[in-house]
Amino acid sequence: MKMLQALLEWVDARFPLTKMWKEHLSEYYAPKNFNFWYYFGSLALLVLVIQIVTGIVLTMSYKPDATLAFASVEYIMRDVNWGWFIRYMHSTGASAFFLVVYLHMYRGMMYGSYKKPRELLWIFGVLIYLALMAEAFFGYLLPWGQMSYWGAQVIVNLFSAVPFIGEKLSIWIRGDFVISDATLNRFFAFHVIALPFVLAGLVVAHILALHEVGSSNPDGIEIKKHKDANGIPLDGIPFHPYYTVKDIVGVVVFLAFFFAVVFFAPEMGGYFIEHPNFEAANPLKTPEHIAPVWYFTPFYAMLRAVPPMFNSQFPGVIVMGAAIVVLFFLPWIDRSPVKSIRYRGLCFKLALWIFVISFIVLGYLGTQPTTDMKKLLAQIFTTVYFLYFVALWIIPKFEKTKPVPERVTFK
Ligand code: HEM
Repeated sequence: MKMLQALLEWVDARFPLTKMWKEHLSEYYAPKNFNFWYYFGSLALLVLVIQIVTGIVLTMSYKPDATLAFASVEYIMRDVNWGWFIRYMHSTGASAFFLVVYLHMYRGMMYGSYKKPRELLWIFGVLIYLALMAEAFFGYLLPWGQMSYWGAQVIVNLFSAVPFIGEKLSIWIRGDFVISDATLNRFFAFHVIALPFVLAGLVVAHILALHEVGSSNPDGIEIKKHKDANGIPLDGIPFHPYYTVKDIVGVVVFLAFFFAVVFFAPEMGGYFIEHPNFEAANPLKTPEHIAPVWYFTPFYAMLRAVPPMFNSQFPGVIVMGAAIVVLFFLPWIDRSPVKSIRYRGLCFKLALWIFVISFIVLGYLGTQPTTDMKKLLAQIFTTVYFLYFVALWIIPKFEKTKPVPERVTFK
């Protein structure tokens, strides 16, 4: 024990280990009224670690070569010790990541966590979301199945819709006229090196920004306003041990569901691993119905809902991009001085629920082959999606909010 203490002192004299532990854990004061919705930040961290660790192990047996990739994944599934387990953890982890992040973002929208002083924290979050989408897109090409190939073909072709430079741009991205070995190699580089770095860096920035301003809470009030004589927030409790213990409960419950999927339903009926992907990529055979994995389908539905102009899909690409870019501006679009849904009026509550429904319906429509009826529905719900942001801007003008308490409450 004495030796350990001496070692710690030796390290502390050279590196701020104890200082960091205190600043970010044992003396980081978080509001004492966190609820269920506050599990998803730590769960997102857990899934990030799962993806990095399983990804490293998969890379040991995977071959980023168009003639070998598909077979190397089959080899991992059948011959590598525990290979099936690692691969299913990684493929399930991708879907779990989006599920957790969507719930985490919903919490932010519900409690107005993006509002002053947490705008930059939110912006880092949206950047993480963008990087996560890129990471998932690049990773999906790697097993070199039919859906990997044709999905990438469809998405990269969207770049050719950019006026003037589109054609050249898409060739530059692929490194070829069609998705090919060159594309697979560069997507592999982005998936295993470039984007994980970007993601990890953004997550560190996200947490640093959070700890700079302090966490918000379901009441949407600032606990730093009421401090005791020692400068400790009256409504705060040290993150460690209180929230480390709470988060471990979340981790255990999450892992129970996660492994239930890994062991019993890793394909999730074609939603987590699409059925055409059990067939090797064939550039001469287009699958009957091409759809991305579920976490992209809301945006895919928007893309298909917008009619082409002068034979170009560019308007659809713009709408799809705008659906994500608009999130960056949320802190300034929502002008209400009240953060939490608890103290906001009925109009805000209705608007948020309609927004969630539109996102889910669009997600469903994106998985389906188009019909005239489904296209019309996608157009309606795309409009509803964007109307949410218009509503957020307008509602505070006439909204009757409830009085916000001074101190946190327990409901
Ligand atoms: C890899 C993905 C992510 C990780 C690891 C992560 C991690 C975290 C953690 C650990 C917290 C504190 C605990 C909590 O409040 O749940 C947090 C808070 C927060 N995150 Fe994230 N996050 C991620 C993605 C996102 C995204 C995509 C957004 C929004 C677009 C976002 C917005 C926020 C906001 C606004 C808070 C503060 C919430 C509050 O204090 O009320 N995060 N994040």
